Formats: sequence, C-alpha cells, structure tokens
Amino acid sequence: MTSLAIIGAQWGDEGKGKITDLLGQKADYVVRFQGGNNAGHTIIVGEKKIVLHQIPSGILHKNCTSVIAHGVVFEPEAFMEELKKVSEDIEVNPDRLKISLHATIITRYHKLLDSIREGATNNKIGTTGKGIGPAYEDKIGRRAIKMKDLFNKEVLTRKLKIALEEKEHLFKNLYKVDYPTIEEEVERLFEFGQVLFPYVDDTFSLIDKATQSGKKVLFEGAQGILLDIDYGSYPYVTSSSTGAAGIYTGAGVTNGVVGEKLGIVKAYTTRVGEGPMPTEIAEEIGDRIQQIGAEFGATTGRRRRCGWLDLPILKYSVKASSLTSIALTKVDVLSGLEELKVCYAYEVDGREYDCAYPGLDLSQAKPLYKSLKPFKDDFQAKGKYAEELEDYIKLIEENLGIPVGIVAFGPERSQIHFRKDYF
Ligand code: GDP
Ligand code: IMO
Ligand code: MG
Repeated sequence: MTSLAIIGAQWGDEGKGKITDLLGQKADYVVRFQGGNNAGHTIIVGEKKIVLHQIPSGILHKNCTSVIAHGVVFEPEAFMEELKKVSEDIEVNPDRLKISLHATIITRYHKLLDSIREGATNNKIGTTGKGIGPAYEDKIGRRAIKMKDLFNKEVLTRKLKIALEEKEHLFKNLYKVDYPTIEEEVERLFEFGQVLFPYVDDTFSLIDKATQSGKKVLFEGAQGILLDIDYGSYPYVTSSSTGAAGIYTGAGVTNGVVGEKLGIVKAYTTRVGEGPMPTEIAEEIGDRIQQIGAEFGATTGRRRRCGWLDLPILKYSVKASSLTSIALTKVDVLSGLEELKVCYAYEVDGREYDCAYPGLDLSQAKPLYKSLKPFKDDFQAKGKYAEELEDYIKLIEENLGIPVGIVAFGPERSQIHFRKDYF
C-alpha cells in the first residue's frame, strides 16, 4: 500500500496535523486537496508550536514534497506569511513545495463578502471569515481566478473583471461598504504571481506520476466529514468535499489509488461555529473538557463547543468515506474526569437511530448514552499507552467495524501508540 488518506471524521480539529506530520516522516508526498486557510493544523515539536493553514503538514520533513492541489482555494497573501514563518524552522524551496496551476484564488472581494454575509443576522454559519465559501462559489460559477491567471496581467484583468464586477455592484449599492478597486486587486495579485511562480506546477501530472511509480503519497484532508458540503450537516458546513471523494476531484486521482483511509477521531466531540451537535455538554464538565483539551480554534481562536464521543456520527463517517481504520486522539483529556459517557444512538420522534444519516434532523436528536468507568491514569505523565483504554477502544471498534490503528495521548510527536502499521 503506497498511498494513504487522512480524513477528519467529526467536525474538524481532530488532530489531523499531528498525525499527518508523524506519518509524513515516511511519505514522499503530502497533498492537500481541498479547503484553504480555514484549516488550522497544529504540530508540536519540543517547545515549538507550528500551525499550518495552507501548507501541507509534511513540510517539516526534508525528504517530503508538499503539494497544494487544484481542489484547494488559495490565498496568496496568507500563504506568503505562512511560508515566512515555516522558513524560520526549516528550509523550504520550490523543489519541495508545489502549488497547482489550477488552484482557485481567494481575492479580497471573497473575504469581504464572507464577512458581510456573516454579519447579517439571518443566515449565520459561523465561518472562519477567510472567504472560502465565496471563492468556491466563483469556482462552481465558472468565473474563478486560477493560479495560472496571475502570470499574465491582461488575462488577469479580464478575468478579475468578470469575477468581481458583480460584487463591486453589491459592495457599492447594496452593502455600502469600502472595497479595493479591481485595478488595485490586479496589481496586488499580479505581484504575488511573480513571487509564487517558482512554486507553481502541474500537480495533476505530478501526483499521477508519483502514484503510478509507487511513491508514498499521503493525502491530508482539512475540516471533517460532518463539515462536507454534501455529506455534512448542511447548511452549517464548509464549501468543499472534505471526505474521501474530495481526494478524487481535488487531487485528480481515482478511487483505486487511495489504499488506506485513516479517519482521525478525537476521543470526544468538538465543533466551532453554528449548527447542531447532539452530544454537546451544557453542564460544567463540558467546560472542563474545553479547558483541559485547550479547545480553542487554531485559525480563529474561537472557543470550541465540547461534548461526549458520538458513535452515530462516526458510524456515518465510516460509511461516507469508506474509512478503513481510525486514529483516536486526545484520550489524555478525558482522564481524571468524574464521569465518562459515550453516545451509542439517538432518539428522534420516539425511534432509535444508531447512524447519523443526513436525513436525520440532528437538532432533534436526543443522545442515548452508555456510561463507562472513568479513566484514572495520567496518560501524559505515564508517557505510554495505558491498558485502561482498552474498553473504550473495544467499544469504538465493535460499533464501527474497523480497527483503531493509532492512539494519541498528548500533542507531542512521542505521545503516540501504533496498534497497526501504516506505510
Ligand atoms: P487539526 O485541525 O485536525 O489538525 O487539529 P488542530 O490542530 O486544529 O487541533 C488539535 C489540537 O489538539 C492541537 O492543539 C494539537 O496540538 C492537539 N493534540 C493533537 N493530538 C493530541 C493528543 O493526543 N492529546 C492532546 N492533549 N492534544 C493533542
Ligand atoms: P481544520 O482543518 C473546524 C468550520 C467553521 C464553520 C464552517 C464554515 O483545522 O479541522 P468556512 O470558513 O469553511 O466557510 O466555515 O466550517 N470550519 C472548521 N471547523 N476545523 C476546521 O478546519 C474548519 N474549517 C472550517 O467554523 O462552522
Ligand atoms: Mg484545526
């Protein structure tokens, strides 16, 4: 097996960055295939905390090439800042960081539209405000600016006019806000194009050749399956295909190419932004989990909502992305709590459901819990995998029908236990 996918199996922030960094040590390529700088993937190396937004989480490994494929919505200014920061820790050159010719560009107009829409009271999603939705709208509307358009001023001017004139009208006449002119946006993006040029490549053929020649390719998902535009809890989702299907369209490979599909699962549930979350804990213990787990968004700093592990959600995610195994993260956070619960099913209109199909209205789902013996060991202090976790893991494996191959019990690289081999 030479290719592997990392997929968030909940509402994002499951620990994909940490697992990608660890498995990326053995990879030839790490590929981001969707989303943009709405993602915040954290890697802890000793005292250092590195948060990646657009750059793939394999970047710390010198022998690994990081690829931003065409399914990504790309923000040039944020990328340059991120690159500068990463370059403080490791040398990054265009030989090992590639951006697709066909990545969709996020302009300042997209960001502005995102924030205006979020400011309106009638349809708040709780977005990250990075312009993700509006940029994907232009892609689907066939008027997006692609990376390759940044290199020719005439083309860029013509395409920006097509994409932005309508928005200019909205800013001026409907929303009555200040906005940069199209000419200013042409100049700004053209300049970024000059700097970015050495990194730009035909990643479609790069990835195809890599997979055909047996290179080890890791596909790094952003967000999570419940935030998927089609599979997620619509409309409280992001605007891309966050599940396995996004790899085929966003990186340009076919189903058979991806061997293992590793679902990343936090040992409890978190969510940032609006939308239903059946196991959200209103009582004090929810705040405790939030504090112990330091559950603040890595991109926006917002407080993450916390709840017990939700098996119906996971059962659905396993089906939605044909997950083949699971990495269970942050088990250490649950240790020392006076109670430990897992939701095994929901009750909706007097009927019981054990799988969160999208047809179910999650806002009406009453979680049914199984109580387990709380964990007592301080897993982090112990510094190794604890036997005490076996019942929890068994319950997950029995319910989902796939193995828990990895258990993470702390943010650092060494705080990991492999129950299965990858790559
Ligand atoms: P991602 O978006 O899926 O990459 O996840 P984030 O980086 O947004 O959030 C996960 C957070 O949990 C980060 O701060 C990680 O450093 C941290 N983390 C990852 N795995 C573990 C773990 O096993 N235990 C603890 N305590 N923290 C972890
Ligand atoms: P990573 O990759 C958690 C959420 C936002 C909001 C919704 C739509 O770090 O797991 P958007 O800005 O994408 O239009 O926002 O999706 N969201 C995330 N939540 N982790 C993320 O990424 C997220 N990216 C977007 O909070 O609810
Ligand atoms: Mg995150």
